[in-house]
Amino acid sequence: MSASPERTAAKTRIGVLISGRGSNLFALQEACARGDVPAEIVVVISNQQDAAGVAKAREQGIPVFVLEHRGLRRADHEQAILLELRRHGVEWVCLAGYLRILGRDLVEAYPERILNIHPSLLPAFPGLDAQRQAWEYGVKIAGCTVHLVDHGLDSGPIVAQSSFVVPEGIGSQELADHVLRLEHQLYPATMRRLLTENWAVEGRRLVFG
Ligand code: GRF
Repeated sequence: MSASPERTAAKTRIGVLISGRGSNLFALQEACARGDVPAEIVVVISNQQDAAGVAKAREQGIPVFVLEHRGLRRADHEQAILLELRRHGVEWVCLAGYLRILGRDLVEAYPERILNIHPSLLPAFPGLDAQRQAWEYGVKIAGCTVHLVDHGLDSGPIVAQSSFVVPEGIGSQELADHVLRLEHQLYPATMRRLLTENWAVEGRRLVFG
């Protein structure tokens, strides 16, 4: 898969899925606004009405679509999301704290075009509360991972990782804060690379160049 010159000249249309505060969403959005990422966020979708990121996205004038998943069949919930992504002409989907595993229809609608950020150095500590898992395990190096999304839990090909040496005596919240600061740099930087460089997925390895 490669980024053609025409594609990089136009802004890629991104849809962001969130369930919570959305700090990665806004880091991406700021990078797009600065021109660091040749893209625009055309819709924010949340499965939580009261997510802090929803209110903030609305304040910023980004189109927002909220559909709570409770009471809906997974397939129906995802079909509604898919419809919304298509209605906005979304080309890339970025998960930013979206606390649902994606179903087949959504993953297959955007092959190699769905990205997630996870707050650990995968494949270590997939799933929820990864920073606490890492802290309790006593890791000496921690970090975050951006990966393509497949059908599994935090299991798609790794695109980029960022790490740091864990200072002695650090608490789990401090570790999480440090990871988050790295996330805010890594997610936009990775999106930029994917949109402006050539890359291909070989087996489960994503290779640039
Ligand atoms: C981040 O730690 C991200 O890695 C994980 O969920 C958290 C979302 O935070 N997938 P925010 O909503 O982007 O602030």
